[in-house]
Amino acid sequence: MRCKNTCQVLLAIMVLFACRSAYGQDSIADKSTKMQWFKDAKLGVFIHWGLYSVNGIDESWSFYNGYISHNNYVKQTKGFTAKNYHPEKWVELIKNSGAKYTVITSKHHEGFALWNSKYGNFNSVESAAAKKDVLTLFVEEVRKEGLKLGIYYSLPDWSYPDYTHFTRDSVRYKANDEPKRWNKFLNLYQGQLKELSDNYNPDLYWFDGDWEHSSEEWQVPKVKSMLQERNPNAIINSRLKEDGDYDTPEQGMPITRPTNPYWELCMTMNNSWGYQKNDHDYKTADQIIGIFTDVISNGGNLLLDIGPKGDGTIPQEQVEILEGLGRWTNKHKEAIYETVAGIPKEHFYGATTLSKDRRTLYLFVKSNANGEIVLRGLKNNINRIYVVGEGTKLSHQEVGKVYWSHYPGIKYIKLPEHVLDQNMTVLAVMLDGEVDLYREKGSVIESN
Ligand code: GLC
Repeated sequence: MRCKNTCQVLLAIMVLFACRSAYGQDSIADKSTKMQWFKDAKLGVFIHWGLYSVNGIDESWSFYNGYISHNNYVKQTKGFTAKNYHPEKWVELIKNSGAKYTVITSKHHEGFALWNSKYGNFNSVESAAAKKDVLTLFVEEVRKEGLKLGIYYSLPDWSYPDYTHFTRDSVRYKANDEPKRWNKFLNLYQGQLKELSDNYNPDLYWFDGDWEHSSEEWQVPKVKSMLQERNPNAIINSRLKEDGDYDTPEQGMPITRPTNPYWELCMTMNNSWGYQKNDHDYKTADQIIGIFTDVISNGGNLLLDIGPKGDGTIPQEQVEILEGLGRWTNKHKEAIYETVAGIPKEHFYGATTLSKDRRTLYLFVKSNANGEIVLRGLKNNINRIYVVGEGTKLSHQEVGKVYWSHYPGIKYIKLPEHVLDQNMTVLAVMLDGEVDLYREKGSVIESN
């Protein structure tokens, strides 16, 4: 008996070692453990806050593309007052929306840092009217409320005199031609990252702007190991060259299910990342919830963006969207969090998720559904169907089932109008075992 136990322990240790690859990179087993919270989280809130929030213009790109001079762009420091900034309210709003994590721009491409960086003085404490380390104040609240923390960091720093690129028409130098100068920049960027990792130990790094240089020039392996030394479980998005931990499609919901099991759609509520007074082209609550359910149905996360104003207030339209989302996520949480991707669209013409044990199938039904829900090719028997967050038990009918064939009939679920949610109704279909789908090519009628 004792030998059996010892042998089991030894075997477990061997398996554990075998799981580490020769180069010390994360094995697949390690990766799924590290990624678990991210997989379960489903919803995150992205925050674009910086100098651009003052005039309400494109983040960094407005001067890069020549719509405003760099000088005038930088003058926005005077309007970056953060005078109505209440990070505890931001975090409360984010948490109530149902988001489990948040990603904030610590520094965008223009180089203005939201924390008291020792590298230069282009930051919210030393060169803005705010005179505050707004990032630290935010992180404190995020930690207090138990949300996961993501830090966005732009690799390019277009304002820094020793960075290569300045505007679209003006490149200062080439990294290869002036290695000393390039090293000066590397020192700044890697030093800042070290500050962020030492100060905040983020759960996730959201890099951006890697297109301007090669992996070699950015010194990606060195940067990765520096961050992972501090926190081996830190997740890194796929914008630090090479393959990061997860893909980051931007704005466009993927049409076919991504092959990478880890992905996150980042999306604006209107057409702008940062605050833009003139942009009222907001998506409706129905559209956002529709996209969100499509995302989780395909195994991804949604990172929904807000753009606070220079004084720290969050535009009312954005507050309302987050509140509306919160009502819906709170009512339907069992169908959202800690679920896995749903079934192929041939079986149900809409978004679906599955409980982790794969024994409950959740159907997301648009509120204008006309009373009858159709499920095709489901081999399981159904134990019970109920309306999530509302409780009504629903009956179903099976059509086209003949006793001598294992082809499952088509299941019709009656959906009375009084159970409909104002945005999206969710049905829980409890199965008699793990979901079992008929995927055969054959015809319904089998010979003999
Ligand atoms: C793009 C843009 C940047 C924005 C980001 C968000 O990379 O350059 O302005 O912050 O997308 O995903």
